[in-house]
This record gives sequence, C-alpha cells and structure tokens, in this order.
Amino acid sequence: MDLKAHIRAVPDFPKPGILFYDISTLLRDADAWQVAVTRMADVIRDYKPDYLAGMESRGFLFAAPLALKLGCGFTMLRKPGKLPGDVVGLDYTLEYRSDRIEAQADAVPPGARVVVVDDLLATGGTLSAGIRLLRQLGADVTAAVTLIELSFLSGRDLIDVPFASLLQYDS
Ligand code: PRP
Ligand code: MG
Repeated sequence: MDLKAHIRAVPDFPKPGILFYDISTLLRDADAWQVAVTRMADVIRDYKPDYLAGMESRGFLFAAPLALKLGCGFTMLRKPGKLPGDVVGLDYTLEYRSDRIEAQADAVPPGARVVVVDDLLATGGTLSAGIRLLRQLGADVTAAVTLIELSFLSGRDLIDVPFASLLQYDS
C-alpha cells in the first residue's frame, strides 16, 4: 500500500508558505491506519522497548496502538499543565516558538528501554526534547520513530539515538 497516497498536503497551513502534511485522511481509512501502525511496529520491534513514549497530541495516535500491538507500556509526554502528581518538564525552542513538555516523574522506571514515537519529524525540536526529558527520568532511550519525516529540514541531525521514519518528503 502506498501510504503517501493517504496523506493530504494542505498548502499555506497553519501559515502562508507552509505545506502541511495532514494525517487525518490516513486515520479515517481503517486499512491505511492499520498498515501504518503495522509497518512502524516492524521497525520498533528490533529496539525491544519496555515502553513507548508518545508526543502529545498526534504522536498518541500512533504510539498507543503501537504499544498495544507490541505488548509494551505506553507513557505520555504532554503539553504543560495536563499531568497530575509529580511532574518533570523541559523547555525547548522551535523554529517559530518556544514550547514545553512534561512527564510524570514516575513515568518509566530507571533503566527502562523506551522508544519515542511521534507522527512527524520536522525541525526535530519536539522529538529531541522528548528524548532529553526521558533521559532526565533515567530512561534508556533506544530509538525514535515517526510516520513522516520532512527530510529537507534535517531534523534527524538533532536526534542522537537511532531514528527511523516510514515516509520522507523532500519539500
Ligand atoms: C507537530 C508534529 C510533531 C512536531 C514536529 O506537532 O505533530 O509533534 O510538530 O515538529 P518539530 O520536529 O519541528 O518539533 P504540534 O506541535 O503541531 O502539535 P500536535 O501534535 O498537538 O498537533
Ligand atoms: Mg505533535
């Protein structure tokens, strides 16, 4: 199956000049979503994760079904102020804005093997922040995986663990 055929490119969203790769069209097709998750699982399995960490929000749409499929735990890396209890946060800078992600302090046990999952790698800021936050918790981050990679932004240069994406875009 050609998964790219299920991803809609929307010009000038959210700002003029940005071409937005929209996964909504993939998610509403049961077979395409299933194939995407199965192919991502085939990549992630080799890294033998104890947990998958999903980046809020769109990362959850892949990380949660992947964790079920692979039989591992799932933990949420969330936008600020969403998680109860003891929380650890990390501020990071993106091309257009500053942002912050948070995890529960006991999200994963020290030494746990964790693979970070998101829908898309652009500048790499979000995913690399996720990796750094998990390390603060004592996790052993064994890989990072996305469905889509905007190769022309070279975001993978920021990722200091093995990185894989299913679909690459050059513009
Ligand atoms: C998008 C996308 C990735 C991130 C990639 O999330 O889902 O998480 O940007 O960009 P980067 O590699 O330049 O960091 P967004 O922050 O738009 O929020 P959402 O997932 O909640 O829609
Ligand atoms: Mg996101």
